[in-house]
Amino acid sequence: MKMRNVLAALPLAAMLAACAGSGSDRGVEAVLKPTQGSSAQGTVLFRQDGDAVVVTAKVTGLAPGAHGFHIHEKGDCSAPDATSAGGHFNPSAKPHGHPDHGDHHVGDMPMLVADASGAASLTARLAGVSVGGDPASSILGRGVIVHAAADDFKTQPTGNSGARVACGVIAGR
Ligand code: CU
Ligand code: ZN
Repeated sequence: MKMRNVLAALPLAAMLAACAGSGSDRGVEAVLKPTQGSSAQGTVLFRQDGDAVVVTAKVTGLAPGAHGFHIHEKGDCSAPDATSAGGHFNPSAKPHGHPDHGDHHVGDMPMLVADASGAASLTARLAGVSVGGDPASSILGRGVIVHAAADDFKTQPTGNSGARVACGVIAGR
């Protein structure tokens, strides 16, 4: 009886392994680590969904309120203030703006809004990027930054969202 159950489970296991093999379906992840003097941390998942990428973020340790949130050009969090991640990911050379309307960097995302406990979560669809597609638009290996202040979606080229409080590199899971 036991043996039979094990055998019956095998095809399912093989199927799951096959699914896990197709990288973009299961998504990629950036683990956000605090910059110097910050306590912000979290995880950001990116999953290809047709022409768009769905981002799901969970961050803690923030000051209550709104925080600029972007994909940055370089997956390099080595500097204590994370300036090593460069500017916003902007392969199409557009001005900074709101991701839902008008011109914007493809790395511009909606703001994270932290509650009184400093926790924020966000789900959004991003156009103009891919997970491992065309190298010019792929977000694999790029950086994710959470900022100290709100993004005004106007000031060039940063949205005036202040210091970088958390940084992560987008990588396969
Ligand atoms: Cu940023
Ligand atoms: Zn931007």
